[in-house]
Amino acid sequence: MASSSSIHFLLFCSLLFSIISLSKAKTTSFRPKALVLPVTKDALTSQYLVQIKERTPLVPVKLTVDLGGEFLWVDCEKGYVSSSFKPARCGSAQCNLAQSKDCGECYSPPKPGCNNNTCSLFPYNPFIRTSTSGEFASDVVSLQSTNGFNPGRVVSAPKVLFTCGSTFLLEGLASGVTGIAGLGRKKIGLPAQLASAFSFNRKFAVCLSSSVRSKGVIFFGNEPYVFLPNIDVSKNLIYTPLILNPVSTSGSYYEGETSADYFIGVKSIKINDKVVPLNTTLLTINKDGYGGTKISTVERYTVMHTSIYNAVVRAFVKTLSKVPRVKAVAPFGACYSSKSLGSTRVGPGVPSIDLVLQSQMVVWKIFGANSMIQVSDDVLCLGFVDGGVEPRTSIVIGGHQIENNLLQFDLASSRLGFSSSLLFRQTTCANFNFTYNAY
Ligand SMILES: *[C@@H]1O[C@H](CO)[C@@H](O)[C@H](O)[C@H]1NC(C)=O
Ligand SMILES: *[C@@H]1O[C@H](CO)[C@@H](O)[C@H](O)[C@H]1NC(C)=O
Ligand SMILES: *[C@@H]1O[C@H](CO)[C@@H](O)[C@H](O)[C@H]1NC(C)=O
Repeated sequence: MASSSSIHFLLFCSLLFSIISLSKAKTTSFRPKALVLPVTKDALTSQYLVQIKERTPLVPVKLTVDLGGEFLWVDCEKGYVSSSFKPARCGSAQCNLAQSKDCGECYSPPKPGCNNNTCSLFPYNPFIRTSTSGEFASDVVSLQSTNGFNPGRVVSAPKVLFTCGSTFLLEGLASGVTGIAGLGRKKIGLPAQLASAFSFNRKFAVCLSSSVRSKGVIFFGNEPYVFLPNIDVSKNLIYTPLILNPVSTSGSYYEGETSADYFIGVKSIKINDKVVPLNTTLLTINKDGYGGTKISTVERYTVMHTSIYNAVVRAFVKTLSKVPRVKAVAPFGACYSSKSLGSTRVGPGVPSIDLVLQSQMVVWKIFGANSMIQVSDDVLCLGFVDGGVEPRTSIVIGGHQIENNLLQFDLASSRLGFSSSLLFRQTTCANFNFTYNAY
């Protein structure tokens, strides 16, 4: 009897133990392979917006996406309440990671954004080209995980580094937005931080919807990236190296800082299979960090150095010489009646504009849906704008040109994977299935 009851007791203990370890496994050892964020396009500003949850207790924080932004910054001046906010102390590992060279003091009562012995960085608002100095800190951030098909359970990273911005720095941002989600190529950029917090690959993908009524998507971490009807877009990407600009392209920075922007090596531009004659020196990055081609979610339309812009418009117009032009609508140079262009699966029937990359075989083709802008019911314009004779970057590929294209940024292998227009594959960036699935 005695031995049997002690066996029972042992069984009971081991059962209890396995129940405890099971529930522990459930709550703590779930490791997402990827995270997912819906992206909306703001109707008024055309900014691309995301919402994350931050702080303790968690609150939703609406942010504008800046692909080349160096880090996450949020307004700490107004309404920042959190028991898990931690300023980064001067000389700490966090400050070293950020390569901050400033140690701040604050002469008001301590609060988020105002602490002594804290390192600071320069949060930048690219829409008003303004930056300020702000406290570097960390707090809890929570996002939805994904298996690539659907969003799954919510996961939290306890110490995501960010910079405190100020209320005045929100000028020019969409209504309700309180900061900027910087996805740039920095160790303190959101992609690198989320990858290290959840131990997944340093990769992320952006797929922007062209409509203000439907959501696009950002994935952090590994593929698959599946869009309805069951198309894994990660399977057919074309790859090109990402180029590091040795000089920061941010609004304010320390000497010697590299750029957080994603540059690619456009070697030439072709329209209708003919090379557009242009000064190719402008396509390379010089020692002062001028020139080259980058991708931006801040510019609405692709911006080009005046000489490139003129050459591209001239070549485009020449190819369409049989189609009558209508009066140009600023800021665009070449406009047509939509009736005279016709339409195809990939938008208005115009010749593609081909960005030739590392070889003649590697081409980013911009089709009508991405090259033309509907400016009124029956007028379409070539959606490139003149960036002047001395722009910092010669070609800035803007939001309209990357909508309904999936772009995967692989930081570890420093390469960009791009899908070309998803319209060809009978899907769009608005086709991610956002229905929760516990998988
Ligand atoms: C920072 O230190 C100064 C000088 O010691 C002090 O006057 C000030 O109140 C402190 N500020 C905060 C936010 O603790
Ligand atoms: C090409 O661009 C470079 C860089 O701006 C400039 O120095 C050079 O004079 C230009 N060449 C021609 C032929 O215009
Ligand atoms: C979206 O995902 C859910 C959950 O997996 C699934 O039940 C549903 O059928 C999917 N929707 C479509 C249109 O396939």
